[in-house]
Amino acid sequence: MSATALKEPTATAQAPLDPEQYRADFPILSNVHPHGHRLVFLDNAASSQMPRQVIDRLVHYQTHEHANIHRGVHLLSERATEAYENARRSVQRFLNAREDREIIFTTGCTEGINLVMHGYGRKFLGPGDEIVVTQMEHHSNIVPWQMLCEEKGTRLRVAPIDDRGELVFEEFEKLFNERTKFAAVTHVSNALGTITPIKRMIDVAHAHGVPVLVDGAQAAPHLSVDVQALDCDFYAFSGHKLCGPTGSGALYGKAKLLEKMQPFKGGGDMILSVTFEKTTYNTIPHKFEAGTPPIAAMIGLGAAVDYLQAIGLDRIAAHEHTLLDYASRRLVEIPGVRIVGTAREKAAVVSFYVGDVHPHDVGTLLNEEGVAVRTGHHCAQPVMQRFGIPATARASFALYNTLADVDALVEAVRKVQQLFG
Ligand SMILES: Cc1ncc(COP(=O)(O)O)c(C=O)c1O
Repeated sequence: MSATALKEPTATAQAPLDPEQYRADFPILSNVHPHGHRLVFLDNAASSQMPRQVIDRLVHYQTHEHANIHRGVHLLSERATEAYENARRSVQRFLNAREDREIIFTTGCTEGINLVMHGYGRKFLGPGDEIVVTQMEHHSNIVPWQMLCEEKGTRLRVAPIDDRGELVFEEFEKLFNERTKFAAVTHVSNALGTITPIKRMIDVAHAHGVPVLVDGAQAAPHLSVDVQALDCDFYAFSGHKLCGPTGSGALYGKAKLLEKMQPFKGGGDMILSVTFEKTTYNTIPHKFEAGTPPIAAMIGLGAAVDYLQAIGLDRIAAHEHTLLDYASRRLVEIPGVRIVGTAREKAAVVSFYVGDVHPHDVGTLLNEEGVAVRTGHHCAQPVMQRFGIPATARASFALYNTLADVDALVEAVRKVQQLFG
């Protein structure tokens, strides 16, 4: 395993991103016509679309490279292993991890968080220990820790958010004491779009000797992430939210922590030797990758992060910010429309409701106009409770969305308002 800390050059120049240049990479955008309309896909926070470059990589793998990895000495097994390990190095570059053995392939962000709960939490936390989360976590960064609390008698401490959907930093800080043993916090809220002050949060936790897991599911597709600069202990994200395949994802962990942790799953590939008396575990990252993984999905993930890095995450962020500003401005011009989540630092998500119209009806009517948005509680029920609402409609952007997509959204919402208003 190599220890490269170098970031590969990304976009050649920081010219503004022209989404039209990239839309052609995404065949689904021109192949699907909901109710005869141009597809306006604004459900990217749930799952984004896949560019031809990733689809082609998957086809190439299945037609030229497929075999099981790390096991065979034959040609195809060598090819598959090389492609799989190259994908790991792509993710290493993407997160700027110090070493590729700090990248564990997972089936997604949820599995990454569960891995840390089982591997670190169940080994090192006990009765009376406290875990800090925030009120804006996705269920997948709440429920695993509640399961740990049930099993071990640990306690969850929740840092509140204010009316804008921003973390109340002083309250977050106050939660840390000698019983605090872990913090699991989001980088970007999926329901509100809030970008948390993640570096400051990590620094506070570290000042108390507390390791930090960052849920990066909504940040990795939109922001340039540097785990060494953040100094986070764990960083989890999903492939399907950043133009990669479902069933792919990665967990970054500092090598010294991963080495101390217990395995999450037992089975083939995660062992060095097995007898009925004693099993010796493999080195990291293999200790955490039991059984045959979704090899193709991980190779697709490698292609997806290479694709995003070649465009440049900073350019993607700037483009999506333009869309977010424009959408936020135009939506509130419509009578009855309220935006939930008005943090000063936001990523590519706008959650809203239209008067008393149920968000589900909003979503259904938008679909009739060709506009795909998400409606519901977005797996963040505590956020809905905080704002006293059952659900929102949520438009979320990706690099291939355009100002025309926002116009289509606004026109469709206007029709909803006129129908019910
Ligand atoms: C903030 C956040 N965390 C975690 C997850 C879970 O991701 P996955 O379902 O891909 O494991 C999501 C998915 O929406 C999310 O938005």
